Amino acid sequence: MSPPTAVSPVTRNSKVGLDTIVVLDYGSQYTPLIARRVRESEVYSEILPFDAPAERVRSLDPKGIILSGSDASVYETGSPDLPDYVLELGIPVLGICYGMQLVSRTLGGSVRPGLTREYGPATLEIVDRGNPLFKDFPERSRVWMSHGDQVTAPPFGFEQLARTDNSEWAAIGNADEDVLLLQFHPEVRHTQLGHALIRNFATGVCGSRPEWTPASFVESSIESLRREIGGAQVILALSGGVDSTVAAALLHRAVGDQLTCIFVDTGLLREGEVEEVEQAVAHQLHSRVITVDARARFLKRLAGVTNPELKREIIGDEFFDVFIDEAEKLEDVEFFVQGTLYPDVIESGTAGLGSAKIKTHHNTRIPDELSLQVIEPLKRLFKDEVRQVGVELGLPESIVWRQPFPGPGLAVRIMGEITSDRLTALRRADLIFREEIAREGLDLAIGQYFAVLTGVRTVGVMGDGRTYGEMAALRAVSTDDYMTADWYRLPNEVLEKSSARIVNEVPAITRVVYDITSKPPGTIEWE
Ligand code: XMP
Repeated sequence: MSPPTAVSPVTRNSKVGLDTIVVLDYGSQYTPLIARRVRESEVYSEILPFDAPAERVRSLDPKGIILSGSDASVYETGSPDLPDYVLELGIPVLGICYGMQLVSRTLGGSVRPGLTREYGPATLEIVDRGNPLFKDFPERSRVWMSHGDQVTAPPFGFEQLARTDNSEWAAIGNADEDVLLLQFHPEVRHTQLGHALIRNFATGVCGSRPEWTPASFVESSIESLRREIGGAQVILALSGGVDSTVAAALLHRAVGDQLTCIFVDTGLLREGEVEEVEQAVAHQLHSRVITVDARARFLKRLAGVTNPELKREIIGDEFFDVFIDEAEKLEDVEFFVQGTLYPDVIESGTAGLGSAKIKTHHNTRIPDELSLQVIEPLKRLFKDEVRQVGVELGLPESIVWRQPFPGPGLAVRIMGEITSDRLTALRRADLIFREEIAREGLDLAIGQYFAVLTGVRTVGVMGDGRTYGEMAALRAVSTDDYMTADWYRLPNEVLEKSSARIVNEVPAITRVVYDITSKPPGTIEWE
């Protein structure tokens, strides 16, 4: 998304009022990327399961449909099929990989298993440079292939648009130039001009107007939130993370003082976090925030607990109790704001095939207990879009670009028992590490970085005496999506300075190590 463009008053997608491209999900891991690339072209896109009821798709009044790839094979029995409406709607269709094979077979073309599975880069040679899909493309560019089957004879009336050494029919299209089929994956970054191709489809071929911008999102959200909430009171659980803060900013813009944010200080937050959040939300957004000091309650419940899952469970339960206690003091509350994001919706299986896994979070119990209606103002956004909306709403960079922080907080970074002393030690070590990274100007370049108390005690020597203290680990990872991550190659000076300062300034810690495990096989957090 980029700066605002005018939103046309014509209502198309009746839900969001924007030109919409529907992505039908056949189960490819790349499906969310297709919707992201469309939205990066400022065109709104939604993912639906391939077998979504036709009415659901029609209700979005799509300007075009993209069919995703799949692990399935079109001639396996029971493989996902092509709903009739796709070709009957008379709107442009872009079939990617499995999507291509499905349309080709439906229209009478042939699909066969390739001699070998093709996985990796290929050079695309464009044969029909006049096709709008390849507008402004050079003759050759790099694309990414990942397929077993391939089209061996296109359907009647389809022409070759592009080829590679291995695929004579790398891209084909019909005479009307509105059914376009690709063997390669334009949605992945390895396809050099993939983004341009998807933009050409969404805007050029489908004629969608690029109006999905942070400003248009804010404007339409405010309008619908006002309509939905009316004069009622709303509560929101503020965590200090980007999502809940952006949600708070949006709600405050929409309903002002009808919003009350409840911020639970669990005592498991990083150094300075409570003040930073209060400062950002109360002073910059002028929203009402109730900070609940629940540090003692959490410590008491966590005393003696070492099992990571039990820690998570206790923290979830305690958070729930504290929040409910506080919310019950408020009057006339009818709504609870939840920071669900689009990937959660996709994961829960309600959008595409997804993983059929429903994300559980302790917050979800709150509205039930209080008989509140749930509002999910960010549920159509990807994480990077949430950040852009945050910028649009005037949130400070320190909030918008904040690294993610797990709900259970420092509890999952302390192996073994959580005590007040160990929390203090970890907080100080973590702050030193953050300071050294910021001093090097790397704070925005690294996806996530933090200190961990490993639970290992080691011998050291300081001055004339021997010491016996805790071993801390430092972790820094580069990542796009937090699903995979690589350990960050920090400059030696940052490691050296952090280690020296931690051992000198935090008496409980006598040794520092650096974690060089990538994900997979490791996870980002230690517990
Ligand atoms: P892992 O450790 O699974 O973490 O590689 C991936 C991302 O998720 C965050 N994380 C959590 N967030 N509750 C949360 O809200 C949790 O229990 C939790 N565990 C991990 C982690 O910080 C990273 O960004």
